[in-house]
Amino acid sequence: MQEKINKYINDINKLSIKNKEEYTHFKNTFLSKNGILNNLFNQFKSLPNEEKKITGKLLNQLKQLVINKANTLSSNEERITKKENLDLTMPAIYSGIGAEHPLSKVQNRIIEIFNKVGFVISDGPEIEDDWHNFSALNMPEHHPARDMQDTFFITLNPDTLLRTHTSSVQIRYMENNPPPIRIISPGRVYRKEDISARAHCIFHQIEGLYIDSDVNFSDLKKMIMYFVHNLFGKDVKIRFRPSFFPFTEPSAEVDIYWGLNSEADYRITKGTGWLEIMGCGMVDPNVLENVNIDATKFSGFAFGLGIERITMLLHQVDDLRLFYENDIRFLKQFNQIH
Ligand code: DAH
Repeated sequence: MQEKINKYINDINKLSIKNKEEYTHFKNTFLSKNGILNNLFNQFKSLPNEEKKITGKLLNQLKQLVINKANTLSSNEERITKKENLDLTMPAIYSGIGAEHPLSKVQNRIIEIFNKVGFVISDGPEIEDDWHNFSALNMPEHHPARDMQDTFFITLNPDTLLRTHTSSVQIRYMENNPPPIRIISPGRVYRKEDISARAHCIFHQIEGLYIDSDVNFSDLKKMIMYFVHNLFGKDVKIRFRPSFFPFTEPSAEVDIYWGLNSEADYRITKGTGWLEIMGCGMVDPNVLENVNIDATKFSGFAFGLGIERITMLLHQVDDLRLFYENDIRFLKQFNQIH
């Protein structure tokens, strides 16, 4: 019996099966009720005890081999039939297309509003140097105003940093272009801030700069009213608050009324009901001099808008972290909104 089993083992090891018929034949020969395996196990029962040990081992080896062979053959066969059933003319499964992110949508709306009155886009790098992000903006080394914007430095060399605001683009543009200037610069900015419902370490701004002869504060105010009314409608409640920025004099901040009805409103507005959306002011003559523009001939205004804050106001989003979580249920709500 041992010899017989050894022969089967050898045969199976050499066996190659080419088609479905041969595979069925193999299965019937070895695995059916009256097949070889069952017969051998029946014969095994009547063997004398001293032979059972070795023969039993051999028989189990054969059984395992047959099962393995049958399994690999059946998965091959599955693959072959699947391939044969592949229909390349079937329509593809529709997995949905993406949509514009709410922040991009609002950014584009803002750009459009300023485009209409002659502002063109100017870009700048997110990795900045000290001069464009701070010094040229009237914030020399050790100036206390630098603390208003906690900075991520890229190397141990404090000259390379992630820009803390898009105001750096003003400097780059003025260095290379003479007045008159009318630009807006949208982009991402970075600050080492604790993440909360109203602040994040990465956010987006749009910088605006207008330089010409005889520009005054009432031009700035008119421009901001034009922008706010276009974006939020004529009925929005708005206020200008005197403020300080080293690169503008005088400076102001602009708030929009959000409301104070829920606990979230208190959290978002720090209990005031107002949400700040931008800083602005008349460009400080020191800044103009830093970029070699004659401050006796030219003046201008600048402003910096926070895109997240504006999007929160427009769509009543009470936690800015939602913009970065990419939760499809949140983002989908903006698909229909323009
Ligand atoms: N860069 C300021 C900030 O990020 C915002 C700002 C204020 C920009 C006044 C300006 C400006 O251009 O005139 O906080």
